[in-house]
Amino acid sequence: MTQTNRRFLLVKRPVGAVTREDFKFETLPAEQPGEGQVMVRNLYLSLDPAMRGWMNEGKSYIPPVALGQVMRALGVGEVVASNHPDFKPGDHVNGALGVQDYFTGEPQNLQKIDPSLAPLPRYLSALGMTGMTAYFALLEVGQPKAGDTVVISGAAGAVGSIAGQIAKIKGCRVVGIAGGAEKCQYLKDELGFDGVIDYKAEDVQAGLKRECPKGVDVYFDNVGGEILDAVLTRINFKARIVICGAISQYNNKEAVKGPANYLALLVNRARMEGFVVMDHAKDYGKAAKEMAGWLANGQVKSKEDVVDGLETFPDTLLKLFNGQNFGKLVLKV
Ligand SMILES: NC(=O)c1ccc[n+]([C@@H]2O[C@H](COP(=O)([O-])OP(=O)(O)OC[C@H]3O[C@@H](n4cnc5c(N)ncnc54)[C@H](OP(=O)(O)O)[C@@H]3O)[C@@H](O)[C@H]2O)c1
Repeated sequence: MTQTNRRFLLVKRPVGAVTREDFKFETLPAEQPGEGQVMVRNLYLSLDPAMRGWMNEGKSYIPPVALGQVMRALGVGEVVASNHPDFKPGDHVNGALGVQDYFTGEPQNLQKIDPSLAPLPRYLSALGMTGMTAYFALLEVGQPKAGDTVVISGAAGAVGSIAGQIAKIKGCRVVGIAGGAEKCQYLKDELGFDGVIDYKAEDVQAGLKRECPKGVDVYFDNVGGEILDAVLTRINFKARIVICGAISQYNNKEAVKGPANYLALLVNRARMEGFVVMDHAKDYGKAAKEMAGWLANGQVKSKEDVVDGLETFPDTLLKLFNGQNFGKLVLKV
């Protein structure tokens, strides 16, 4: 039986927020695997703010998605056919599967996962790239010490919520910045954050003054822009600022807004450092094991926001940029 493959090709470089017109949605027979290849039925796809960056031309940490190519996406799926000795039908895998029903190709970048150990979407959240980002960005770049005040923006999101919980495990005072009362309540009541700032309802400077009476030792930045500028005014001597992301700037039609208050780094002999999760790929196994332990003993909670339907991809992706996602945004294929 020939399977049908629905897929989204990137056909235009978006200007500002993505639109349906930036993609071509097509349906065609799925490609059968050649020598050394596998065919994977995609089950869940990870929707990430980084996807917006991958659509832009220009130099970045990985090449852009070429026009006419299937939109890049991480995902989990099940092998349905294999001409590779290391994979057999029924194996579950995690990797760059693309926004489509079936991935057909070489499996060298696919990792086997065990669906009996965790629900599949969790391999895209706490146990996947998102969790690895929180883990390594906080611990390696942020270097939190017990008693430090750690501020996290995008705190109720996939990366931010895990980073905050790890900071709590390390004995820090954790303050989350998020949009809306429901998300802020969740951070305090469910995840045990010490303080929250609802940037949509209050002045961030005033919130930082209230929640960080001893200043900020680590700032885990997911959003950039004005919030980064506000936190810079509150940093302590030798503070560490983790540049994990800058989602407030990804849909800019003009140049990215840089931090006006960067001289706070000079005054405080502080450090701001960029982070890319792929640099830590060789250590994912060790980190995932520790994360699995925290999930099992309840020290880390993982929340997935699963939306049904491959065909909804462009609209669902927008949820990341208007704050409509609550937890790791995952598309059920
Ligand atoms: N460097 C790396 O290797 C790496 C890897 C993975 C992710 N990241 C970065 O980590 C960040 C979070 O990613 P995620 O996957 O965890 O997404 P997420 O936080 O689950 O979702 C994005 C959230 O960003 C917030 N947001 C959107 N526009 C905003 C704006 N203009 N100002 C302030 N907040 C805004 C929204 O939350 P509110 O409702 O609170 O506004 C939204 O829910 C992104 O910047 C991403 O690029 C980096």
